[in-house]
Amino acid sequence: MRVVRTVTELRAELACARAQRGTIGLVPTMGALHEGHLSLIRSAFEQCETVVVSLFVNPSQFNEHSDLERYPRSEARDARLAARAGADLLFAPSAQEVYPGGFATSVEVLGGLTEKLEARSRGSEHFRGVTTVVTKLLCMALPDVAYFGQKDAQQLLVIKRLVADLNLPVRIEARPTVRDHDGLALSSRNALLSARERARALALPAALEAARESARRGERRAEALLAAARTTMEGRGVEPEYVALVEPETLNEVPTLEQTALLLLAARVGEVRLIDNSFIEPAPAPNISQLQSREAVAQCNA
Ligand code: PAF
Repeated sequence: MRVVRTVTELRAELACARAQRGTIGLVPTMGALHEGHLSLIRSAFEQCETVVVSLFVNPSQFNEHSDLERYPRSEARDARLAARAGADLLFAPSAQEVYPGGFATSVEVLGGLTEKLEARSRGSEHFRGVTTVVTKLLCMALPDVAYFGQKDAQQLLVIKRLVADLNLPVRIEARPTVRDHDGLALSSRNALLSARERARALALPAALEAARESARRGERRAEALLAAARTTMEGRGVEPEYVALVEPETLNEVPTLEQTALLLLAARVGEVRLIDNSFIEPAPAPNISQLQSREAVAQCNA
């Protein structure tokens, strides 16, 4: 795997792949790679002839300076892991390369998708920072396919909107959230948790499971499902920043669980802000004979 730091080098490296008409896959990352990133790189390796991993901690998407300062950085380790997972090129530009003097353009997805949930907590600049840098990375590498994780569900939808609206010639592939053995969604920020905080962070997957379990038992009211998630988090000493049950494509809140919905949540554990989400299905409506036998049991018990 080659490490390149400038757009000129990146394009020179990719010229050959492009001339041979091989497909190029891009996995954009901010480094501190974990199994979630590696699963994206492996997917790219399976589907594309050339795999580029970008590593750039993008200052413009951080709303808190302290979060940017302490974001874990480990380029040598990342390079080893990316190579092992199948990357051909690691594109690790400087901030100067991405935002040279005089840089004055931003790309913004407007409307509902970028105004709710994460945007409420992190400000609208967050998604503007993401969409600007992702547009730049796509223009720099001109990949056929770009890979993103479902863990950042709102980011994924915003990027799909961006690509559709600007007719960018790239296919966006989403991959499921990768979890640790105990259910905690992998995130570069997990490295910043103390052992105690990591144990408390399990409140997030537990809350998702509590809501799913309630849905499996037949609960469909959003209010009740959200309460199940919220009380689970609070019971484990974690104050939710938001818990929302939404339609998976629009992120509009749903009052009842009629079809597959997305349950999203965010919370701070110590100084670390974590997010997680899960699809949630309504339990199938009971059929006539199930209703009849329930009625028979009820009559028997009466
Ligand atoms: O998901 C991330 O790591 C970042 O938001 C991304 C897509 C690499 C843009 O900086």
